[in-house]
Amino acid sequence: MVSTAAVSGASVPASEIEETLLTPRFYTTDFEKAAEMDLSAGEADLKTMLAEMQADYNRHHFVRNENFEQTWDHIQGDERQAFVDYLERSCVSEFSGFLLFKELSRKLKGRSSILADIFALMARDEARHAGFLNKALADFGRSLNLGKLTKNRSYTFFPVEWVIYAVYLSEKIGYWRYILIHRHLEQHPDNRFYPLFNYFEPWCQDENRHGDIFKAMLRSQPQMWQTWQSRLWSRFFLLSVFATHSLTVHERSKFYDMLGLDATTFDTEVIRQTNDTSARAFPVILNVAHPEFFKRLDDCADRNLKLKEIAQSNAPKFVKFWRKVPLMTGIVTDLLRLYLIKPIDTEAIRATVR
Ligand SMILES: [Fe+2]
Ligand SMILES: [Fe+2]
Repeated sequence: MVSTAAVSGASVPASEIEETLLTPRFYTTDFEKAAEMDLSAGEADLKTMLAEMQADYNRHHFVRNENFEQTWDHIQGDERQAFVDYLERSCVSEFSGFLLFKELSRKLKGRSSILADIFALMARDEARHAGFLNKALADFGRSLNLGKLTKNRSYTFFPVEWVIYAVYLSEKIGYWRYILIHRHLEQHPDNRFYPLFNYFEPWCQDENRHGDIFKAMLRSQPQMWQTWQSRLWSRFFLLSVFATHSLTVHERSKFYDMLGLDATTFDTEVIRQTNDTSARAFPVILNVAHPEFFKRLDDCADRNLKLKEIAQSNAPKFVKFWRKVPLMTGIVTDLLRLYLIKPIDTEAIRATVR
């Protein structure tokens, strides 16, 4: 999964989704620089990962079984809306991963064969994930026109290093989201309201492997973990991904209610685990145990919900603007304070363990 797409609500006919509600941000990068990257330091790891990807453990996994063959009309109102919204967002995220990996594979063909092959196989996985989610959407009378989305996509340019930091985190946070929902539903099978959740365990292993591939790329580039700049970027991407996750989960708390999960508890656990996992790749991780960390993040999520309420209200534009200003200032201040919390130096820990 690559969370590089922003999707809002889903209360319009499917035909309008691509034009008005989905504003997918697909990333592009400096392909020339990607092709010239010296991967020798990570070559052994990348070869191992390529072999794993070629083994294609989930070849037969994404096949819909008889559990899907029923109507889902008993899921109605806010719950239906929340679930469809979740499916749409997930589908576009998976699809944006597919497009990025496919393009990287195409551009690197004949230049960097190991990366070209790995990206082609990651694109294969993300296409499966997006396609499976789109079929789930069809069960609810919706579907995304992925062909149209491809044609209409707009690109945001990210340097290669940013792509590696951001996609690594996106894959690992994707892994933790899927596995934590899976584990929770194992304990509470009555909350499994739709068969899609039965597919999450092998699915999350795909995301875990993708994350490991980006970890191998990251560690093969010393400037991405040995320099002071890399420490600042790591903090920036960790915080950006965690804040986006927190805001999104709280906006969609209804979906987590349906699963019998508390949105705040789920959000906190996903962030904690992803932060811990990132210690294997990043030179620093965030100090999420700091007493202010989750408090400030929760405050940002609350303010974001208030911003949404204001945006949906009928107040005149200038009234909306002035009501939004203190909330937005509060979010920016909190994010800045969070960024400044002293991080945990994972390289120092690595050095003592060695
Ligand atoms: Fe995926
Ligand atoms: Fe992925």
